[in-house]
Amino acid sequence: MILIFLGPPGAGKGTQAKILEEQFDYRQISTGDLLRKHRREGTALGKEAQGYMDSGKLVPDELIIRMMDSELANVTDVILDGFPRTIAQAQALDALLRAKGLTAGALLFDVPRADLEERLIGRWTHPASGRVYHERFNPPKTTGFDDQSGEPLVQRPDYKAETIRTRLDVYEKETAPLVDYYQDPKAKRLTRLDGLAPIAEVTDRIKKLIAIRPSAA
Ligand code: AP5
Repeated sequence: MILIFLGPPGAGKGTQAKILEEQFDYRQISTGDLLRKHRREGTALGKEAQGYMDSGKLVPDELIIRMMDSELANVTDVILDGFPRTIAQAQALDALLRAKGLTAGALLFDVPRADLEERLIGRWTHPASGRVYHERFNPPKTTGFDDQSGEPLVQRPDYKAETIRTRLDVYEKETAPLVDYYQDPKAKRLTRLDGLAPIAEVTDRIKKLIAIRPSAA
């Protein structure tokens, strides 16, 4: 099953994808995490993506689609977190899935804009795993350190108020049109989710919405 997590920055897509990945047989593919890895490793793609990411703009479709082509080569049960983000990316994904005889369903995380800003400003991340915390809503056991590895947490370069406003504007303009793309009444590929509930409640709702196979582990 290919599950697309759709929603604005800060809606909780990464938080929920990590929880489902750790508890079930899903693999999370986050384009944001992949791009940040490229940046840490200093690849050509990472260098090209850097300016777009730090200013809150989208990385050009051509680079993202090329990166995702190889990531999606052998997938079955995946959560796509942050992809697709434009109509061109959604069409490229559909073409790829059609060729494999697969379909994808999208889950839209609904959260009002005012709440998104507070969530993004208070977010802390563990860079190696992508695990996400919030100083108020989901604090780590020890302030500043990852619960599992004990390694330091960081704030992303795009957490600043001005960049957050740009990211939210870019979402409205370039990604929100995907809601219409996926909620086409014939295809019925979109499910809406109240992303404002506490984290554990959102997880429970997702589990009820989708048929998930418990992990063997
Ligand atoms: P990316 O890393 O994908 O960022 P994003 O989509 O903007 O999403 P976020 O990671 O900011 O938010 P989220 O919804 O995952 O929320 P989270 O779980 O962290 O992309 C970064 C950049 O890469 C983009 O700006 C772009 O430049 C580039 N990029 C990536 N993909 C691309 C693509 N396909 N095309 C082009 N460019 C691309 O939660 C946020 C906070 O809220 C956390 O602190 C969390 O603890 C807290 N929280 C979560 N859930 C709840 C809850 N229910 N209640 C209270 N707090 C909560």
